[in-house]
Amino acid sequence: MCGIVGYIGNEEAAPVLIKGLKRLEYRGYDSAGIAVLGKPGLLIRKSKGALQNLEAKIAGELAGDILDGSVGIGHTRWATHGEPSDINSHPHTDVSGKIAVVHNGIIENHAKLKAWLTEHGANFRSETDTEVIAHLLNFYYKGDILQAVIEALKRLTGSYALGIICENDPDRIIAVRKESPLVVGAGAGENLIASDVPALLEYTRDVYYLEDREIAVLYRDRIAFYNDEGDEHQRESSHIDWDAGAAEKGGYEHFMIKEIHEQPKALRDTLRARIKIDNNSKTINLEEIGFDASWAKAERVVIAACGTAYHAGVIGKYAFEKFTRVHTEAAIASEYRYSNPIFNPKDIFLIISQSGETADTLAAMRMAKKGGARIIAITNAVGSTLAREADLVMYTWAGPEIAVASTKAFTTQLMCVYLIALQLGRLRNTISDAELAAHIAALESLPEQAERILSEKENIQRFASLQFNKSKVFYMGRLFDYAVSMESALKLKEISYTHSEAFAAGELKHGPIALVDDTTLVTALCTQSALFDKMDSNIKEVKARFAATAVITYDDVDYFNNTADQVFRIPRTPDSLSPILAIIPCQLYAYYCSVLRGLDPDKPRNLAKSVTVE
Ligand code: F6R
Repeated sequence: MCGIVGYIGNEEAAPVLIKGLKRLEYRGYDSAGIAVLGKPGLLIRKSKGALQNLEAKIAGELAGDILDGSVGIGHTRWATHGEPSDINSHPHTDVSGKIAVVHNGIIENHAKLKAWLTEHGANFRSETDTEVIAHLLNFYYKGDILQAVIEALKRLTGSYALGIICENDPDRIIAVRKESPLVVGAGAGENLIASDVPALLEYTRDVYYLEDREIAVLYRDRIAFYNDEGDEHQRESSHIDWDAGAAEKGGYEHFMIKEIHEQPKALRDTLRARIKIDNNSKTINLEEIGFDASWAKAERVVIAACGTAYHAGVIGKYAFEKFTRVHTEAAIASEYRYSNPIFNPKDIFLIISQSGETADTLAAMRMAKKGGARIIAITNAVGSTLAREADLVMYTWAGPEIAVASTKAFTTQLMCVYLIALQLGRLRNTISDAELAAHIAALESLPEQAERILSEKENIQRFASLQFNKSKVFYMGRLFDYAVSMESALKLKEISYTHSEAFAAGELKHGPIALVDDTTLVTALCTQSALFDKMDSNIKEVKARFAATAVITYDDVDYFNNTADQVFRIPRTPDSLSPILAIIPCQLYAYYCSVLRGLDPDKPRNLAKSVTVE
């Protein structure tokens, strides 16, 4: 949802900004732009479309122009206000053309401000909400850009991460955020800002995650931090452990397929630190994150999230109820926040978000917190808003996920959900020691089992090459398999633009079967052993309507050999843990369909990686 970068140092800023934007393209890619303070003053270049259009524009420049400046800001856009166009691209400038702004977020009162600023002589050129910020800064600028920012912030409502430069104040960048992410990187003789860490890694691993309404002023040799009243304070930096290579394609054609292959390692990393050996037997260790016996008194678990993370929540619902016997609900955060929900201080509120910045998810968390619930966050983003505001945080150690469609973040979210559910079951004595030991052993086997599925990916590729043009693809399953069906259908529609839906298999004959014909592929997720015969009937029903059929089941199950056209096998694991394995063939199928359709799976149309607006 838009990416911003900024650089101040001794190198030419433009190439540094472009490199940073490349790493943020997953956040938006319908236009891009940079502003650099060069010898002639403030220089702006913008271009509609992919970043390479901007690169081409800059490559055509004569030396001494845009390249001749070591301070600059850049932006890659995911349009919210105004269509993708050169004019609507950021950076936006004030009337004097001396102040430039890049913005990620939404200024909710922009219409009112625009009217007011127009009365005061501002001349608006774009349809964006962002342009009001540039004109507001001009209005308050009396020779000190920091002071102008402080004054302008008082007028803004909504969400923003901002990078600001000013021709009259050429040796600093002002950065500030509210409800949109912004990281400041501290280098040697150079400092940077970015919406996300991968854009900084080539320059530094020492970063500051800005707090809401905190202002950073970046000079070449230091960074100063202020609150929104202008009082200076000191900050401690955080050190990033993952290496820059984690954000590179590493020989894979796309980030998505790389990230699918990273799942065994990500699962191992997420699990490893959470298992300990006690008296020769393995137990789950969540004390270091503060998950102690006090959580066992929970009377209800509510899980809220969006998209793929919500699907992890639906699996969580089944897992919590199975292992803890505590009533559990999974809620779509954007619905939940407007549903006038009932809170109980004895609720555990589990929030799942890869980015930790999703607007609806954060809103649901804040409501639950106000209602007195205790919040556990599962997130992949250290220092994210979610991580900072939750009572307890469990990180997924997935590493950076660059492809827009979530894969390794999802399976590591599931790993965390299982660990919390099993541990809560243990604290509540709703699972026996033997059951716990068996499930820990099963969790430990998952990374190697995931490797085995990946080693047979050609089977999926071959199947995709036969089916990728199907106009309708349905996934069906029961219980845990229904949740995996939802995630599979989402993956396929996101990146291959195929109309795909998930159905609870028992619901099929209550309506959806009317859609089934010989243009339909139905994939049945069959890992819930007690329900194989039910699934078998459902598959026969769609076959009788001429659908092509595929089944995903365990490698020791022959049940479906004569029912489905194609059977894909995953290694045996307890039925409740199967989603971590069963989703992998479906991720691969979606990926191959996208590639076979000539699309870019990493950057699906209309989507952005981090949805920081409603
Ligand atoms: C789908 C996908 C999205 C996200 C959703 C929530 O592949 O990635 O559905 O899961 O936008 O994002 P986070 O997890 O960052 O809150």
